Amino acid sequence: MINFQALSDKYDTPLYLYDFDHIKAQYERLKEAFKAKKSLICYAIKANSNLSVIKHLGDLGAGCDCVSIGEVNRALYAGVKNYKIIFSGVGKRDEEIKEALEKDILLINLESEAELYRVELQAKSLDKKARISIRVNPNIDPKTHPYISTGLHENKFGVDIDSAKRMYIKAKNSPYLDPIGIHFHIGSQLTKLSPIKEASKLVSDLVRSLKVLNIDIKFFDIGGGLGVCYDDEKPIDPYDYAQAVFSTLSGLDVTILCEPGRFLSANSGYFLTKVLYEKTNGDKRFVIVDAGMNDLIRPSLYDAYHKVEIIGKDTTDEDTKCDVVGPVCESGDFFAKNIKLPKTDHDDLLIIKSAGAYCFTMSSNYNTRGRAAEVAIEEGNDRLIRKRESFEDMIALEKDFLK
Ligand code: LLP
Repeated sequence: MINFQALSDKYDTPLYLYDFDHIKAQYERLKEAFKAKKSLICYAIKANSNLSVIKHLGDLGAGCDCVSIGEVNRALYAGVKNYKIIFSGVGKRDEEIKEALEKDILLINLESEAELYRVELQAKSLDKKARISIRVNPNIDPKTHPYISTGLHENKFGVDIDSAKRMYIKAKNSPYLDPIGIHFHIGSQLTKLSPIKEASKLVSDLVRSLKVLNIDIKFFDIGGGLGVCYDDEKPIDPYDYAQAVFSTLSGLDVTILCEPGRFLSANSGYFLTKVLYEKTNGDKRFVIVDAGMNDLIRPSLYDAYHKVEIIGKDTTDEDTKCDVVGPVCESGDFFAKNIKLPKTDHDDLLIIKSAGAYCFTMSSNYNTRGRAAEVAIEEGNDRLIRKRESFEDMIALEKDFLK
């Protein structure tokens, strides 16, 4: 049991806590599910890119899925080996491509034909052969929130199957490109297996047709997207997930790459915030807390649900409903709407759950609010893994330019 009150007293709020034992257990569940084949789990560090979180997963054997050269460098800095790092993203700058090639990472994942030529050019300038994969957009509806759906032609990601085939042939004929991977990622917070299986089948058929052309795909990258439970969702079991993918791979000798973010870190995370005041506007009750949408934007941005609990008081059916809101000057600055909470007092502690993925990483300094501190809990011990941002931190890159 985590002693939230003691940790809030020790580190103050707003505060992110990550249970490293949970992250480890999730990693091991997934690794175990894939054990019948060669696999590498490349943690999608966009979900939570704290160096200590990356190192924790790296030490367990994970690689990293990165979406900018900044993320590649974060992964390397945290000690992840270059040959376990993949670099995706629809818009890579030449400098990013060049640096990724110099750092000799496992794969650059191409998302357009135009990008293929840029990568070829950069590889030529370095006299290198770039290991590439191509992100296939299978045009399959993943049945998730439209903002986190990525596998439909109307989404900007990847290329259609026919274009992918053309690109593989071009790459095969280039002295500077080595097409050894294939990739798909149809969306995030997936709770239905059938779209994943359908995509895997389409992409594995493409791998078979490439084999006939002497293009030998070694890495079959199934992306990320495994959903988790925020409320009452029924997440996909990792074993069923692996079996569904395996069932599409008969006759193929490939290493499976998998890029989970949320699955590994979301439910390791707790966001702690203290009550400042309560008030009512007419009949409407508000609980105002010391954290805002700048700290955790998912409810404001996606109307995402995060469970909110109060520490040290019981919530009963008799309690009235309230909105839990922050101090930021936006009506969209809320964590929960119309939830029941007992009467709160100044300094009561609230916990916002499932806060380990896409929460801190999407935080900002809006309203000149310093980012929260981050703490790891591992085997019963807690330790600071990121300091609370100070006013000095926030003005550091501007103050020398004051005229
Ligand atoms: N691989 C690729 C190519 C991706 O684009 C993503 C996520 C992942 C892997 C990891 O997906 P995951 O396993 O975490 O579902 N900010 C949104 C989520 C955006 C996801 C973007 N891509 C949210 O807060 O829900």
